Amino acid sequence: MAKYRIAVIPGDGIGKEVMPEGIRVLDTIAARFGIEFTWDHLDWSCDRYHSDGAMMPADGLDTIKGHDAIYLGAVGWPTVPDHVSLWELLIPIRRDFQQYVNLRPVRLFDGVPCPLAGRPEIDFWIVRENNEGEYSEIGGRLYAGTDAEMAVQQNVFTRRGVDRVMRYAFELAKSRPNKHLTSATKSNGIIHTMPFWDERFKVMGEAYPEVRTDQYHIDILTAHFVRNPSRFDVVVGSNLFGDILSDLGPAVTGTIGIAPSANINPERDFPSMFEPVHGSAPDIAGKGIANPIGQIWSGAMMLDHLGHPDAGRAIVKAIERVLTQPELLTPDMGGKATTAGLGKAVADAL
Ligand code: NAD
Ligand code: IPM
Ligand code: MN
Repeated sequence: MAKYRIAVIPGDGIGKEVMPEGIRVLDTIAARFGIEFTWDHLDWSCDRYHSDGAMMPADGLDTIKGHDAIYLGAVGWPTVPDHVSLWELLIPIRRDFQQYVNLRPVRLFDGVPCPLAGRPEIDFWIVRENNEGEYSEIGGRLYAGTDAEMAVQQNVFTRRGVDRVMRYAFELAKSRPNKHLTSATKSNGIIHTMPFWDERFKVMGEAYPEVRTDQYHIDILTAHFVRNPSRFDVVVGSNLFGDILSDLGPAVTGTIGIAPSANINPERDFPSMFEPVHGSAPDIAGKGIANPIGQIWSGAMMLDHLGHPDAGRAIVKAIERVLTQPELLTPDMGGKATTAGLGKAVADAL
């Protein structure tokens, strides 16, 4: 029996509603595949911030660094500034555990209404740099309260940081039938970091002659995501560009509610973290109507990572089947189903 200890952080808002559905599905598949999960539930959240003054305990990262993986819902709530809640919980996990790859699939499923005319085929992966780039702590505020007041933020692109995420993206592209990798750049407007990004993309690509490459400036790339999403196979981008593309991608497939992500430490020195792309959705929290597919599919990615691709695939197959039934769709997909109704349907389909 394969046994795994998982740190569970439901977080805030709909994170607390979709997490039980993810666990329901994972427990169901575990029973079928001879896997045993031990779930360590952690209340790290904005609620905790209000009661204890911190998003997580001071030794929080130490308590989870020996876990096999982290399963997270969503973090952030309007009563705590986002730069506090996220930089005290989500971002430290990604950084301290060197989860430098943020892998985010984008797929249009049969049965999910698509906002694009003609329902193009959409099936690609975004590889987002997850540790540096535009998300840097270097900078500050000056001359507060005067006319000269300013905020400065440095972008940090290291050769090591750029090369390692590009290597991951090239390897992924190489493993796919189309072997096509697109780089998101802005080297016409950002004159230091982005030309460096392009240069490293070219150098890294020399080791992958079988992978066809192209690159687009981020502005027109967002247009192609809408106008020509079928042309993409794997897309690699910096931390901020990857963040923006990975909301846009799922939006053109119907809803951000289905999108999963894997924050991966490829060397396995630390646990990786699996979480939906979406946030805590304060506008629908408490109503029981959040789409749980992003959380459930993230669980499938966790199984892949733990060495059970068959189990992960079985979950994705169950999602495919369930989404073709209109009565099982949540409101973001045009239906009337509840979070629990859809989660249970996926578990039953297994
Ligand atoms: P959001 O993803 O929470 O919501 C954006 C819109 O999408 C809302 O209208 C929401 O109702 C809808 N939506 C999102 N997930 C859905 C689901 N599963 N089912 C149905 N509809 C869904 O983004 P936001 O409003 O920018 O952020 C809200 C909070 O979440 C902020 O505090 C933000 O910082 C945080 N956030 C956290 C994460 C994370 O934990 N990884 C990601 C994004 C945003
Ligand atoms: C995401 C989120 C986070 C990010 C925020 C909440 C810090 O938008 O996971 O995509 O920017 O990475
Ligand atoms: Mn985001």
